[in-house]
Order: sequence, then structure tokens, then C-alpha cells
Amino acid sequence: MSTGSTGSIFPKWQLAVLLGAPIAIGLGYLYYRKHTECLEDDPSNKTKKSIANLKGQTISLDGDDKLTQEQPENIGKKAVQLSPLEEATAHKNEGNVCFKKGKYDEAIQWYDKAIEICPSSNAHDLSTFYQNRAAAYEQLKKWTAVRDDCTKALDLNSKYVKALHRRARAYEHLNDFPLSLEDVTATCILESFQNNSTLAFADRILKQMGE
Ligand SMILES: *[C@@H]1O[C@H](CO)[C@@H](O)[C@H](O)[C@H]1NC(C)=O
Ligand SMILES: *[C@@H]1O[C@H](CO)[C@@H](O)[C@H](O)[C@H]1NC(C)=O
Ligand SMILES: *[C@@H]1O[C@H](CO)[C@@H](O)[C@H](O)[C@H]1NC(C)=O
Repeated sequence: MSTGSTGSIFPKWQLAVLLGAPIAIGLGYLYYRKHTECLEDDPSNKTKKSIANLKGQTISLDGDDKLTQEQPENIGKKAVQLSPLEEATAHKNEGNVCFKKGKYDEAIQWYDKAIEICPSSNAHDLSTFYQNRAAAYEQLKKWTAVRDDCTKALDLNSKYVKALHRRARAYEHLNDFPLSLEDVTATCILESFQNNSTLAFADRILKQMGE
């Protein structure tokens, strides 16, 4: 369940190219929408810019690999009928593009769609969609929403370090230090106490609890 979905668009996609499948909605349509809704500027330069944006930033989004592997010149010529998971993943990718442009509200709307469509059996994917939405809520400082989405991500994947760390930050902002400490401790354990920034975070929470 946790590995079966990774890169799932591509094998099918390449197969469709090989078989010469006819044009359909699917990817081409989603690709078109992404670039009309989230990006401005000249169409011929959009893809390069969005990929340049991706490479220039390090933020806690998951699943960007698929985005950078897209071959824009092929998309639109041929497409396949997307499975619900593929469609959800495409929505998530659009959300990531919006996120990186600082359009957090739009990103959240894409993640909403991804979460809505994603089959519950794809728990790993679903957990990343929740985690990414939590990241967008964090940018908007909507800490209750961050906490709730991280909780959903963790229900689906209890060892999701990023979600644990993010929820610890949310609890800190909500002044719930005991629960923040609980999450940051779990994060430290999962990271084998090797991450200085997490250790510093734990230290900070302990000090706040002492005050
Ligand atoms: C595309 O971008 C390049 C530089 O990034 C620029 O030189 C070129 O004029 C742009 N093309 C169009 C059609 O705007
Ligand atoms: C350490 O934790 C930070 C979050 O505070 C995270 O961004 C970073 O990737 C972690 N480093 C490692 C090596 O896991
Ligand atoms: C963490 O801190 C220790 C001691 O302060 C240092 O030796 C080590 O290089 C740091 N590790 C990282 C990944 O920053």
C-alpha cells in the first residue's frame, strides 16, 4: 500500500505513448488547467519557470518528484483515462505548484480535491495530501487546521516524521505544550536523536513548560 502508488502515472503514461493511445481529457486537461489557473506569463515559458521555482525552494511538500518528471511536450498529444489515485495525485501536484507560488488558499483547494478523490485504500498517498494541506495551513497560520490535518495524516501513517514535527509546531502555537512535547519526542525518536533542529525544538518546548 505504501509503495504501490509511487510514480504510478508514468508506467501507464509511457505505455499509452507506446500504444499510440488517442487524445483524451485526463492529463492533458489537468495540465492545461494547472497552467491556466496557477501561472501567469507567457505559455511557452511556464513550465520552465515552475520547475525552476521547484528547484529553488526547499519546503515540506511531498510528491514533487512526479511534477518535475513530467514531459510537457508529450502531455496533450496523448493521454490516458486517469484512475482516482492518479487524478488525486494530479490535483496534489497542482496544489504543490500553487503552494510554491505562495498561493496557499488555492493550494488548499487543490489538496481538498485530492483528498476527496483519493481512495481510502491508498493510505500513504492520502496521508501526504493531508500533510501538504497542513503545510499550506501553516503558511496561513491556521494552527487548528494544521493540527487536525496532521492528525489525519498520522492516523494513516503513524511514523510520518514531517507530520509529527508539524503538529508539534501547531501545538506550540496553540500553547498546548504537553502535546507538543509528546510529538516532538516522538519525532526525536523516529530521527534517532540525530536532528539538531528537532532537539533544539524539544529543548525550547521544555523551557516553555517550565515557565
Ligand atoms: C522565455 O524566457 C526567456 C528567458 O527565460 C526569454 O528570453 C524569452 O524571450 C521568453 N519567451 C517568450 C515568448 O516570452
Ligand atoms: C531536521 O528537522 C527539520 C525540521 O525542523 C527538517 O526540515 C530537516 O529535514 C531535518 N533534517 C534531517 C537530516 O532529517
Ligand atoms: C549537531 O550538533 C553537533 C554538536 O553541536 C554537531 O557536531 C553536529 O555537526 C550537528 N549536526 C548537524 C547535522 O548540524
